[in-house]
Amino acid sequence: MTEMMLDIRNLKVSIPTERGTLNAVRGVDLQIARGETLCLVGESGCGKSLTATSIMGLLPRYARVTTDRFDMAGQDLTGKTAAKLAKLRGRDVAMIFQDPTSALNPTLTIGRQLTEGVMRHEKLSRSAAEARAIEMLDRVGIANPAARLTQYPHGFSGGQRQRIMIASALMGRPKLLIADEPTTALDVTIQAQILTLLGELQADLGLSLLLITHDLGVVAAIATDVAVMYAGRIAERAPARDLFAAPQHPYTKGLLAAIPVPGVTPRGSALPAIPGRVPGLIGTMQGCAFRDRCAIAAPECANDPVPRIEAGQGRFVECTKAEVTA
Ligand SMILES: Nc1ncnc2c1ncn2[C@@H]1O[C@H](COP(=O)(O)OP(=O)(O)OP(=O)(O)O)[C@@H](O)[C@H]1O
Ligand SMILES: [Mg+2]
Repeated sequence: MTEMMLDIRNLKVSIPTERGTLNAVRGVDLQIARGETLCLVGESGCGKSLTATSIMGLLPRYARVTTDRFDMAGQDLTGKTAAKLAKLRGRDVAMIFQDPTSALNPTLTIGRQLTEGVMRHEKLSRSAAEARAIEMLDRVGIANPAARLTQYPHGFSGGQRQRIMIASALMGRPKLLIADEPTTALDVTIQAQILTLLGELQADLGLSLLLITHDLGVVAAIATDVAVMYAGRIAERAPARDLFAAPQHPYTKGLLAAIPVPGVTPRGSALPAIPGRVPGLIGTMQGCAFRDRCAIAAPECANDPVPRIEAGQGRFVECTKAEVTA
């Protein structure tokens, strides 16, 4: 049986706002097998980052999070507190953020920042932690790593800082790595290098990778599976090959319309614009959230719940009208 690194069912995240409750994540199921690279795509504001940060237990205190099931690396974390989740960070799961400049502390040396976590979590000695930091920096392609431990972040380029962030995420030897738009702050050639690096690390270390990206070229290049998110739910999930060959959800079809030939889309090509706007997520919602923008919408699309159609191994689509070929 496939070993699941992450199995989340019915994840909901809501945030109180002045205008009412913002139901930003509205019942997300995410399963990631060992060694799998799942790309999570979808328009800005659809809840990708909130999904990722709730897995890490890093949401703001005022956010309300519930799940029916939350298994990570074989442990049942359902209902666990943020403090318990924090313990797992830097061990089973690590996250890379969008902007390396804000994630590295400018006043501390690289060596200090890389070693602090494992010295605390794994009770490693300073020299053992430094040895691991050197190994990881070497792995992510930082030349002469031992000498660079004493340097501060400003001594490195943007691309190097993002490599250091990846090394830092790998320090605890995580089983699952979550990367939220890890390259958007970088220029296009460096983006390609970082993504190639992530793909290599994933293969070498047998990591599971949850990669959030706007870039469908990246998805075509490194995803084993894709989850397409729309207005707080997964509209469609499929093995990457199947999704590109035969998208089922009208929203997915819209996204893929700009890349007719899978695999040849240049990196850096963003999600294409689909006419219309994402619905507001304040308060409750009835029926399919995409129906106002959907060319094949019918009256039954306003019904709740929207049926989920299992369309083969590792594949589902939530749409009343999709012509599903299993
Ligand atoms: N701390 C917060 N307080 C209030 N609203 C928030 C907070 N974090 C996120 N939101 C709102 O929740 C919704 C989902 O946000 P999220 O950051 O998960 O989107 P996203 O899919 O990651 O978008 P992007 O592609 O722009 O990064 C958005 O409407 C956002 O404005
Ligand atoms: Mg985001």
